[in-house]
Amino acid sequence: MIVLGVESSCDETGLALYDTQRGLLSHALYSQVAMHEEYGGVVPELASRDHIRRAIPLLEQALQGAAITPQQIDAIAYTQGPGLAGALLVGSSVACSLGLALDKPVLGIHHLEGHLLSPLLASEPPEFPFVALLVSGGHTQLMRVDGVGQYELLGETLDDAAGEAFDKSAKLLGLGYPGGPAISRLAEFGDPEAYKLPRPMLHSKDLMFSFSGLKTAVLTVAKNQGLANICEQDKANIARGFVDAIVDVLTAKCVAALKQTGLKRLVIAGGVGANKQLRASLDAAAAKKRFKVYYPELEFCTDNGAMIAFAGAMRLQINPLAAQRDYSFNVRPRWPLDELKVV
Ligand code: KG4
Ligand code: ZN
Repeated sequence: MIVLGVESSCDETGLALYDTQRGLLSHALYSQVAMHEEYGGVVPELASRDHIRRAIPLLEQALQGAAITPQQIDAIAYTQGPGLAGALLVGSSVACSLGLALDKPVLGIHHLEGHLLSPLLASEPPEFPFVALLVSGGHTQLMRVDGVGQYELLGETLDDAAGEAFDKSAKLLGLGYPGGPAISRLAEFGDPEAYKLPRPMLHSKDLMFSFSGLKTAVLTVAKNQGLANICEQDKANIARGFVDAIVDVLTAKCVAALKQTGLKRLVIAGGVGANKQLRASLDAAAAKKRFKVYYPELEFCTDNGAMIAFAGAMRLQINPLAAQRDYSFNVRPRWPLDELKVV
């Protein structure tokens, strides 16, 4: 069975083809980062319009890469939510129009389920059950994953998501958008002893997070140094203080979630999962505490169509009727992951 995946929930347009027998056949991705950069964040209306421009050329690219014809597609999976309403509508209309034209069934996928299952696209995928840390621009959640559609929320952020904290702190330091990769690169040159920032909720004895205070701590330190003419080394020192704090908290809570569930497998998903320092810290904890940690391939950490095609294929393997010839647009910009059930 060949599934086409369509992702358009935020500022990446991704189209991919996944074959349940042969694996991922191709994936095509366009990132709008350069377009949103000058505004310092994603402009929803611009995002929607750009998805419209990119979707069909990317589909052609994916079909060419897979060397198949549109008729060979068996089902079309698209991101139904959560995300930007207008952006989601583009993906769903592309998926539904193609479905109607090709007479193929469609199914809506939860964006975070795509991220959660993305490490299974790796050459050495984890087995169920596992603990998953979902760290993206909009979410920070710890989940227990027992199978496709079997997710239990263990803890989440009370305010900002980890990616949001990266982006906002980077913006405060004048590092542009998206800030995660930039602040992480700069932190490599920083002195770890220069600024010890607070580790929010490190000792809260639960699996909840809070990152909005960390951004305020960055602002306070930066202001004390004279925000406008802060020198490069000091910027790097602050970046280092920030990254060390957030990585410490994420690592400690992952270890606590493994202890609480008694599981020995940890899966990292979402854009912040690309972070070098987080990976190094989790690898060190895994060696010390004897658990195994799995990361998605770097290209599948941030938003992409492959994870949507894959999640669709997994759901269809459990229930072939999960995809229907129902082409009404039905996006869910807000959609809690724990409302998602096995099909
Ligand atoms: O999963 P994703 O692509 O989109 C959402 O669904 O939100 O995640 C994007 C987030 C952004 O906040 C971005 O700054 C962050 O992931 N990110 C990183 C890195 N690469 C992306 N944060 C820290 N270090 C990175 N290397
Ligand atoms: Zn995402």
